[in-house]
Amino acid sequence: MYKNNNPMDVFECIAARRSIRKFLDVPVEWDKIGIILDAGRNAPTSGNIQDWNFIVVQDEANRKTIAEACLRQHWMSQAPVYIVVCADLKKSERFYGVRGNRLYSIQNSAAAVQNMLLAAHAIGLGACWVGAFDENVISRVLNIPDHARPQAVIPIGYAAESPEPQSKYPITTVTFLEAYGNRIKDIDAVMHDYSMVIEKNLKKARAGAEKGIRKLPKQGKGFAEKIREKLRKK
Ligand SMILES: Cc1cc2nc3c(=O)[nH]c(=O)nc-3n(C[C@H](O)[C@H](O)[C@H](O)COP(=O)(O)O)c2cc1C
Repeated sequence: MYKNNNPMDVFECIAARRSIRKFLDVPVEWDKIGIILDAGRNAPTSGNIQDWNFIVVQDEANRKTIAEACLRQHWMSQAPVYIVVCADLKKSERFYGVRGNRLYSIQNSAAAVQNMLLAAHAIGLGACWVGAFDENVISRVLNIPDHARPQAVIPIGYAAESPEPQSKYPITTVTFLEAYGNRIKDIDAVMHDYSMVIEKNLKKARAGAEKGIRKLPKQGKGFAEKIREKLRKK
C-alpha cells in the first residue's frame, strides 16, 4: 500500500481542497487509488452498516459514456479514473426501514465521498464530486442492480488547474446558537478567541507601566520615554 510520507494536517487538507475539473494525461497509480478507497470505507455509517460499494472505472469508453450521462460534463473523461459510489438500498432498508432507504443511504454514501475527496487531495490528486447524472445510464453501463443506486461519480487524476477557493459563508451566517434562527452576535466571545484575552492583558500591562512611569523621579524621564516608545510598538 502507498505510504504518504508527508501527511497533511487535516485542517489544511479541508481548507485547501478544491473541486478539480481539469486533469493531466497521467495515469493514477493503483496504490493511490487504494488509499482513496481505504478512506471511503473508513467513513462513518449509520450503525456501521457500510451500505455502499465503490466501482473503480478506468475503461476509456465507459468513462466517456458516463461523462455523457453526467449531463454531458465532457471534462470528466480527461480524468484517468472514476470512482462511482453506490448505495445498497436493500441493506439500508433491511436495517433501518424507510429512513434507511431514503436518508441514511444518502448520508452514508456522502460521508464516504467526502473522505475520498480529502484523501485524494492529501496525496496530491485532484477530484470532483459529480452528482448530476442519468442514474439509468450509469446503472446500465456499470451493471448496477436494481437494489443499488449510484450516488456520486468521482473523477480523479493529477490536477491541471489550481482553482481559486470558492467563497464560503462565515460561521455566523450558517450557525445558530442553542436554537434555530438564534444568530451569534459576538463570535469572539463564543469562540473564546484568545487574541481578545491577549489584547485585554496587554491593555492592563500598558496601564500598569504608565502608572509606574509617572511615579519615576525627574531624572528618569528619558528612560520613561524609552519605555513608552516600546509599549507603543507592541
Ligand atoms: C451533491 C453534490 C453534487 C455535485 N455535482 C456536481 C456536478 O455534477 N458537476 C460538477 O462539476 N460539480 C459538482 N459538485 C461540486 C460542487 O460544484 C463544488 O463542490 C462547489 O462548487 C464548491 O466548490 P469546492 O468543491 O471547490 O469547494 C457537486 C457537489 C456536491 C456536494
